[in-house]
Amino acid sequence: MDKTVALTGDRPTGKLHLGHFVGSLKNRINLQYSHDQYIMIADTQALTDYFENSQLVVDNIIEVLSDYLAVGIDPELSTIFIQSQVPALCELTMYYMNLVTVARLERNPTVKAELAQKDFGKSIPAGFLCYPVSQTADITAFKAEIVPVGEDQLPMIEQANEIVRRFNRLYDTKCLKEISAYLGETKRLVGIDGKAKASKSLNNAIFLCDSPDIIKEKVYAMFTDPDHLKVSDPGRVEGNVVFEYLDAFHPDAKEISALKAQYQKGGLGDIAIKSLLNDVLQRFLQPIREKRAGLKRKNLLDLCFEGTKKAKSVAEKTLCEVKSSMGIDLFEKCNFYQRNH
Ligand code: TRP
Repeated sequence: MDKTVALTGDRPTGKLHLGHFVGSLKNRINLQYSHDQYIMIADTQALTDYFENSQLVVDNIIEVLSDYLAVGIDPELSTIFIQSQVPALCELTMYYMNLVTVARLERNPTVKAELAQKDFGKSIPAGFLCYPVSQTADITAFKAEIVPVGEDQLPMIEQANEIVRRFNRLYDTKCLKEISAYLGETKRLVGIDGKAKASKSLNNAIFLCDSPDIIKEKVYAMFTDPDHLKVSDPGRVEGNVVFEYLDAFHPDAKEISALKAQYQKGGLGDIAIKSLLNDVLQRFLQPIREKRAGLKRKNLLDLCFEGTKKAKSVAEKTLCEVKSSMGIDLFEKCNFYQRNH
């Protein structure tokens, strides 16, 4: 039996960090064994808010690709491709655009949150507002049924399914598949400053390729409990970044829960838990950093080229089905124009 298709992607606007690992990469490493997995470098989508800095997007394609391989995404198992090189995705976007209203796009909570952050004012680029439609094209082009993303992307999936249902109903077809989010073990990792989310733009993340010194510096700068002044003071575990990271990366949950109890009671210092976390993260990141450093640019580009070739042919097949459902597969129909004479 054919495996279920999973698809996800990242905007290439910077190197990937531990938040990406916990929030999505880890799931993808597992899914590649059980699913037919596509991983897309979403450069077209990145351009919706980096249009004036397209070079940054291009430069980061190789960085994201390197991060994928370094953490253990296997190009033999997962098809890695570049969004902008698959034109069928743009064509699908164009058709789907008719199935969604501007008001609905403006109501999308993910888009709304991003708009609030970006300060576009009244000058919202149409491309930005429509990126959930292009995301629907990305997913449906590969008949993906599973999208391994973080919770913040759930409104995207909902909107995609509305488009899928509307298309299928309107053209009386089963051509497009409904999509489910795959949250798996996904967790949102807090930033080292204790802010809700580790993110490149907030400058509060530990990157997969950070050097040992930088990792240590970031761990020792982590937000803990500001009222925990002396080692003997009882300390708070909730909202304590060091424990959040230990929960995510320490292999022994029992040991961590004993440490938490001791910290809450008093008698465990911040330096001790930071030193433990530093060891855990150094051990985790060292092989990733080494593997990353050994990757050859040419090999990376070659494998991405192969992945993109495959992605192109799959997406084109879906595009043909979509056009045929709408009845606009004109040149494929031999009676149109009677091309034979
Ligand atoms: N929105 C995702 C991000 O910001 C990237 C993305 C583009 C994506 N198309 C997708 C994710 C389709 C999942 C499915 O990183």
